[in-house]
Amino acid sequence: MKIGDINFPSNPVFLAPMEDVTDMGFRLLCKQFGADMVYTEFVSSDALIRHVNKTKAKLTISDEERPVAIQIYGRDVDSMVEAAKICEEASPDILDINFGCPVKKVAGKGAGSGMMKTPDLMVEITKAVVEAVKIPVTVKTRLGWDNDSKIIVELAERLQDTGIKALTLHGRTRAQMYSGEADWSLIGAVKNNARMNIPIIGNGDVTTPEICKKRFDETGVDAVMIGRGSIGSPWIFEETKFYLNNGNLLPKRDFDWYINVLKDLIRKNVELSGERGGIIHSRRHLAASSLFKGIPDFKKTRVAMLRTDTMNDLFVILDNIMPLSEDA
Ligand SMILES: Cc1cc2nc3c(=O)[nH]c(=O)nc-3n(C[C@H](O)[C@H](O)[C@H](O)COP(=O)(O)O)c2cc1C
Repeated sequence: MKIGDINFPSNPVFLAPMEDVTDMGFRLLCKQFGADMVYTEFVSSDALIRHVNKTKAKLTISDEERPVAIQIYGRDVDSMVEAAKICEEASPDILDINFGCPVKKVAGKGAGSGMMKTPDLMVEITKAVVEAVKIPVTVKTRLGWDNDSKIIVELAERLQDTGIKALTLHGRTRAQMYSGEADWSLIGAVKNNARMNIPIIGNGDVTTPEICKKRFDETGVDAVMIGRGSIGSPWIFEETKFYLNNGNLLPKRDFDWYINVLKDLIRKNVELSGERGGIIHSRRHLAASSLFKGIPDFKKTRVAMLRTDTMNDLFVILDNIMPLSEDA
C-alpha cells in the first residue's frame, strides 16, 4: 500500500490523531511498538495563522517518528490554505485534514464534522489545500452528520477527485459522537466502490488484534487506525502487528514489563515537557491503561496516581501495584 510515494508494509496499523494524547512522547512510543504511521493532535488553522505559540509547538515532529502526519482543522478556505503552508514547513510526510471532530467547540462552528453539513465547502477546502502544498494531503472524516444523512459513499468520490492521496473513515456519524458501535459496513462500501482508487483507512472501536484482523478481512481496507485502544496501552501495536503477521497472539509479558513501558512514557514526557507538564501529559494514559482493568479496589491507587506531581512518587505508586493473580 502506498500513500503518495510512501510505502507501507502489508496490513498497516496507524495511531489515530488524538487531542491531548498523541504528543511526541506517545507517538514515539507507539512507533517503537510498530505503528506504521502516527498523527499529531489536530491543530487549529486559525490559531496557527495567528502564530499562537502553543499551537505552533504541536507542529514539532522528529525524524524517528516518520512517517508522520500533521493534522489541521478549520472552516474557511484561506486560513486552511495558509495553515497548510505553515505545516508544510515543518516537513511532515503527510498533511491530514480533520473533517471528523464532533465536539461542540469545533463542529458547532462548522469545522471538523460540522463540515458534513456543508459538503461543497468541505470539497472546496480540500481542493485548495491539495493545490497549495507539495506533500500528500489526506482527509479524515465520519459517515455523515446523522443517521438520515450518511453521505460518505458519494462524498468519498468527490474528495478523491480533489487529489487527496488517502481517506480515513471513522465509522460513526457526528450525532453519535463516540456512542454506539462503529459501523464498518459503510467503510467497506466506500472501499469496495469501483470508482474509488485511493487507500481507505478504517477506524472505530478496534481494541484488540482480533478485531483488527476481522476489520481488514471483512472490508478489505488498506489500513486500520487505532485510537482509544492505544491510550495507556501502546503495546497494542506490537500485539496487533504480531497477530496480523503470524495468526496467533503474542504471549503476554509479565506485569513489570508493562509497568516499565508506562514508566518509559512518563520519562519521555518529562524529558520533553518538564516534570509538571510531563506528568500531566501522562495522566490520561495512566487513567485509561488496559493494564489496570479488573484489579480489585484500584480506585484509590488510580486517584493517587492522578494526584501525584513528581515522577519519583509516581514510580513508587506504580512499583507497588499488585497485578491480578493470573498476571503475577
Ligand atoms: C481523546 C480523543 C481525542 C481525539 N482527538 C482527535 C483529533 O485531534 N483529530 C481527529 O481526527 N480525531 C480525534 N479523535 C478521534 C480519533 O482519532 C478516532 O477517530 C476515534 O477515537 C475512533 O477511533 P477509536 O475507536 O479507535 O478510538 C479523538 C478521540 C479521542 C478519544
